[in-house]
Amino acid sequence: MPRYASQTVLDVVTHIQRALDPTLAYRYACRVGMCGSCAMTVNGVARWTCRTHVDRAAKDDALEIEPLRNLPVIRDLVTDMSGFFDKWAKARGRFEGGASRNDDFAKVVPQSREREQVDAAIECIGCGVCYASCDVVTWNPDYLGPAALNRAWTLVNDVRDTTNTERLRAIAGDAGCHACHTHVSCTERCPKQIAPTAGIAGLKRAVAKAALRGEL
Ligand code: SF4
Ligand code: SF4
Ligand code: FES
Repeated sequence: MPRYASQTVLDVVTHIQRALDPTLAYRYACRVGMCGSCAMTVNGVARWTCRTHVDRAAKDDALEIEPLRNLPVIRDLVTDMSGFFDKWAKARGRFEGGASRNDDFAKVVPQSREREQVDAAIECIGCGVCYASCDVVTWNPDYLGPAALNRAWTLVNDVRDTTNTERLRAIAGDAGCHACHTHVSCTERCPKQIAPTAGIAGLKRAVAKAALRGEL
């Protein structure tokens, strides 16, 4: 295996497929940390491989590369992400605004509390690293998981969205935010420095408040 400065784990996988085993299946698209498709388990830890340098990830000069945990394996290093994204839909992870094309643009001031809450969690690239790192997902495959709940939290804080009561109902059940045991692996591992644990705690508070108001 040729070694060079700034070599990434994805470079290694690509070399193996091109030079050693053309049947090896793996997934990537952008190679610059944007698309979220290259995540794998590297020496036991879920990582985005296009931004993970071999020098940082190798243990005793060796790499053990496996597919992400908590997802069905299609082949080799490729996992089936459909259940992961189905959970985003179950958590009502899509924006539903109330404005029409005739309305003026919504104005949410960059320095406002509302905007800060959204900005803190909006940069998720859907890589599945948090989901693969969450033991609660392993124990309870129905658990919506940190990425879907982080997305729900982003929308709960979006003042333009009109469906928050339905969204809170969707994430309030046994497989929703209350299943999180605050193990924080998701927050420790997220390559975009998002803190799903904090968002899930926010959802728990929002659900409690809505229940007290009799909305759920
Ligand atoms: S904080 Fe919650 S969602 Fe994140 S890894 Fe732990 S149990 Fe999973
Ligand atoms: S929250 Fe972070 S780790 Fe989880 S899917 Fe989004 S970017 Fe990946
Ligand atoms: S290949 Fe797109 S994030 Fe790694």
